[in-house]
Amino acid sequence: MNNHINKLSRRFFLTISTAALIVACNSVSNEQSTTQNTEGQIGGQVNIYSSRHYNTDDQLYEGFTEQTGIKVNLIEGKDDELIERIKSEGANSPADILITVDAGRLWRAEQAGIFAPVESAILTEKIPSHLRHPENLWFGYSKRARVIMYNKDKVNPAEIATYEDLADPKWKGKVLVRSSSNIYNQSLVAGMIEEKGEEATVEWIEGLVANLARPPQSNDTGNIEAVAAGIGDLAIANTYYLARYEENPEVFDKVGVIFPNQENRGSHVNISGAGMLANAPNREQAIALLEYLANVEAQEFFALGNNEYPVVEGTPLNPVVESFGNFKEDTTNVSSYGKNNADAVKIMDRSGWKYSHHSKLYEKFSRFSSFYKCFVGRWYGGNFVTSRSQISFVHCLPASRASNCCRENIFYWYSTT
Ligand SMILES: [Fe+2]
Repeated sequence: MNNHINKLSRRFFLTISTAALIVACNSVSNEQSTTQNTEGQIGGQVNIYSSRHYNTDDQLYEGFTEQTGIKVNLIEGKDDELIERIKSEGANSPADILITVDAGRLWRAEQAGIFAPVESAILTEKIPSHLRHPENLWFGYSKRARVIMYNKDKVNPAEIATYEDLADPKWKGKVLVRSSSNIYNQSLVAGMIEEKGEEATVEWIEGLVANLARPPQSNDTGNIEAVAAGIGDLAIANTYYLARYEENPEVFDKVGVIFPNQENRGSHVNISGAGMLANAPNREQAIALLEYLANVEAQEFFALGNNEYPVVEGTPLNPVVESFGNFKEDTTNVSSYGKNNADAVKIMDRSGWKYSHHSKLYEKFSRFSSFYKCFVGRWYGGNFVTSRSQISFVHCLPASRASNCCRENIFYWYSTT
């Protein structure tokens, strides 16, 4: 059995490939743009580094070029890789704008010193102050709400109203979350630290971890599917992930949305955002793009590309997003998520909200075979603890038995492929 596992884990690590940046569309140039000024247009070009890659983006940038005469050159990549790339390109970077998701990542970019402030009356007027950097280093262009999702067959939504309720012992063994390494959860916890302080947040995490249906794992999509499949009753996830299941009633019809904390601070929101880079060679064009993205027409494409919420009032919502209902949002400045990020990670790890090595192994095994399986381990200090020798497939269960239970500190954990 151990050999089998070793072989599997070797395969697992071999499949982790270094993710290369996807170079899309046009190549960028670091030459200064030449201003063309035909018919009052600005002309020239703007170089965007973006972690967005949605179908509506082409139309978004085409509209900008039409209106301003500015050609858009786009490089797409993963968020943190783009930040690293801009850092390493330094003064020679052709990048004018960075577009990325999560205020925590915008903060990382800000800490790396790559943004320059933009003073624009248009942006400060149109974008609510809690959704942009206090010194205008970056601006939020779409909102994502991180909410509680529930299995409609198992949960009466009137029974749960707040993030704090997820720590109520009545939900023991029912809650699904992804790991603390994920920036969305880090920002959720950072926001709670900002409003309730560290002590209250630690208490909440400890209660939440004690209620988990399985060790923190997967992603928002995986946890939504697990709610639909009844592996847990409740999950923390962003609404746009559920919107993606609109055409899939097996999931969409089984999962409901609760916007938490409507009676007090409101639901946690995060942003996709953009800022102008300190070494931007095309500053005028960069500012024109940032202002363009705050137009209602651009907002529609920007937000709807990923079923998110626009930040500028008067922008129509996607009907699926609208079907989740209106909600009161938390207006803590999203820049606090980055500021409190290190503290959030520290207390999440200390309190057991972790993605363990064993979770990784388990996910690998789950994908490997079509049988239901089980790990044997222990809940210890909020962590699911096994050693390699303890990991074994002890049962193959029929689908109807897929569940988890705790017996005398031994945790049996079943899942499907
Ligand atoms: Fe996402």
